[in-house]
Amino acid sequence: MAQATVSAGGMSRREFLFYVWGASMALFAAQFTGLFIWFALPRFREGEFGGTFRLSIADLPPKNDPPFNRADGRFWLVNLDTRDSNVRMYRASDETEDIVGVAAIYKVCTHLGCIYPWNETNERFECPCHGSKYRLDGRRIESPAPRTLDRFAVTIKAEDGTILAQSDSEEGHFKAVPIDDILAQAAVIEVDTGDRLDGPSQTLICDLLNNCP
Ligand code: FES
Repeated sequence: MAQATVSAGGMSRREFLFYVWGASMALFAAQFTGLFIWFALPRFREGEFGGTFRLSIADLPPKNDPPFNRADGRFWLVNLDTRDSNVRMYRASDETEDIVGVAAIYKVCTHLGCIYPWNETNERFECPCHGSKYRLDGRRIESPAPRTLDRFAVTIKAEDGTILAQSDSEEGHFKAVPIDDILAQAAVIEVDTGDRLDGPSQTLICDLLNNCP
C-alpha cells in the first residue's frame, strides 16, 4: 500500500518541490530581464564619455587654429577652412572640394588605439606609438594608421535649443559642419560621443610602394 504523501498543510512533497522550482525560475527570469534592461538601455549621461557634451560656441577655436582639447570627452574640436590654406589645413591634390566647418575628432589613433597629442611644433597630430601623423582635420598623412581619424556627430544649436546645423554623413563619414552662415545665432555645440563614424581610408603613395614609415 502506498505511503501517504500529503503534509499537514494539505500539500504533497511533490507539489511543494514544484512550487519551489517555479519560484526559482520566476526569480531567475526576473533577474535575467533586469540584466537585459540594464545592458540594453543607454546608461550614458550628458557630460560622460559615451554621452553628449555641450560646449559653448566660445570654445570653438578660430579657423585653422590648433584644436580645442576636450580630454574628458576624448575628442578634439576643430574649425576648418581650406580656403584659408595654411600648414595645418591645406587642400590636398585629391580633394575636389574645400573643407569648411566644425568637426569633433576622436582622440584614439586608428592604428592600434594609442592616444595621440597635437604637436605644436610640427602643427599636426602625431601618434607617439608608431609615428602615424594626421592633418588638423584628422586626415591621415603618414602611416601605419590605416585611415583618417574617426569623428563624432556634431550639432550646432541656438540659445533657445533650436537646431541650426548637424553633422552630415557622406559615404559613412561625418563631414565638417559649415558654420559661417549661422555663427551669429549659434550658442552651443553638442558633440555626441555615442555617435562615431570611421574616418575614410586613403591610399598613400607609401602604401603603394610598401615603404610607409
Ligand atoms: S597606435 Fe598610433 S601609430 Fe600605432
